[in-house]
Amino acid sequence: MLSRRHLLKSLGLSAFSLPSLSYAHVLKENPADEMPHPGDPEFWKKVRDQFMLDRNTVFFNPGTVGAMPKVVVDKMTEHLKYVASGVADWAYKDDNKEEYISGYNNLMSIRKKIGQLINTDALEIAMTDNVTHGMSYIANGITLQPGDEILTTDQEHGGGQSAWKIKEKRFGAVFKTVSVGKPIINATEAYDKIVKAITSKTKVLMLSHMISGSGAILPVKELCAEARLRGIFTILDGAQTIGHIKVDVKDIGCDAYVGCFHKWMGAPAGTGFMFVRTEYMKSLWTTVASYRWDNHEDEGFRFTQRGTGNFPVLKGLDAALDFHFELGPDRVYERIKFLGKRLRTGLSALPKVRFFSPSDESISAGITVYNIEGWTGTKLQDAYWEKAKMRPRSQGDTFGVRHCTHIFNSEEEIDKAISLVKEWTR
Ligand SMILES: Cc1ncc(COP(=O)(O)O)c(C=O)c1O
Repeated sequence: MLSRRHLLKSLGLSAFSLPSLSYAHVLKENPADEMPHPGDPEFWKKVRDQFMLDRNTVFFNPGTVGAMPKVVVDKMTEHLKYVASGVADWAYKDDNKEEYISGYNNLMSIRKKIGQLINTDALEIAMTDNVTHGMSYIANGITLQPGDEILTTDQEHGGGQSAWKIKEKRFGAVFKTVSVGKPIINATEAYDKIVKAITSKTKVLMLSHMISGSGAILPVKELCAEARLRGIFTILDGAQTIGHIKVDVKDIGCDAYVGCFHKWMGAPAGTGFMFVRTEYMKSLWTTVASYRWDNHEDEGFRFTQRGTGNFPVLKGLDAALDFHFELGPDRVYERIKFLGKRLRTGLSALPKVRFFSPSDESISAGITVYNIEGWTGTKLQDAYWEKAKMRPRSQGDTFGVRHCTHIFNSEEEIDKAISLVKEWTR
């Protein structure tokens, strides 16, 4: 694990120059008002220095794939070399300790950290390569009857909804979407629209916790409570939330949650997880099956065991989780939101800017989606790159760009983006 001293040292700080950077210590010893403010430029500049991003470019697209801190790349490379040079030392005596390949190891220490991150037991966590895999394992593993309904929104990602469409085509279940609006106005309106679409045949409610194309946070806690009253299985797509906003699956009360670490957590690509409450996980069929396919001692391991995989990538994930915890999850979430709000506030003063992300700050964080009247997303994306080597991501002809803010961004970068849009809208 990346020690606090190591992180402090690499931030150029002594343990005495700033409040503790250990998550547990921050919570225990430092009242919130002693923590670096989300807008403390000196502190965040030192955090920025931990990333390998090219200094001549500005990255605004962790909603697609994130930027890795140097420590993540170092840990991964170190382990790659260890495997390459030491594989002959491998004695095949204990799958759970040997770290040459993944896929047979129960990965308990990483699963525990993920459990800590989302507030659940490691036994309810299985490792996957990404969100698409997690969603597919769960959709494939559940038995639905012809006529059973799967309800979701009209704004789901292909990696979240497609496995449920297969349920329709292959087994006669009914895939139903409800229009929630773009932008979503507020949580109450989204809640009402979704609840109104539930019928006596609804068996699965699948929703993005945060919608990828708008950044809107859905009222998942209230929706899961309503679904539970009606005996509906709830599954949330957390592709955009992990490492971005707080996720507490016990508080939310969902039955399943799938997420990835290669976007907002800064882990290498190919790292994800699925959480399923034990009462559902024990009857879930495995899709990718190996020795443990029917061994229910550790349900998460039953799904984690899925053939030879890449251990160095998991070492990178482990380092990314440590980095996140050492920095302090709350501090990370606050900083992301602080920058996102700064961007929205600046852009909303410009009359020709049209938003597709919510204007209600209570359902927004680090994703802002907007366009300039008469422009396309590609035009706006290209203008940013040509003018300032800034990289938000086009959302197609109508919806402009998705502009994500993260801890490696600065206030100056946000202000520069706003001034460019101001220039383009003159
Ligand atoms: C909401 C949502 N779901 C699913 C996915 C697919 O994620 P992955 O590529 O990790 O499978 C994405 C990717 O952008 C997404 O935003």
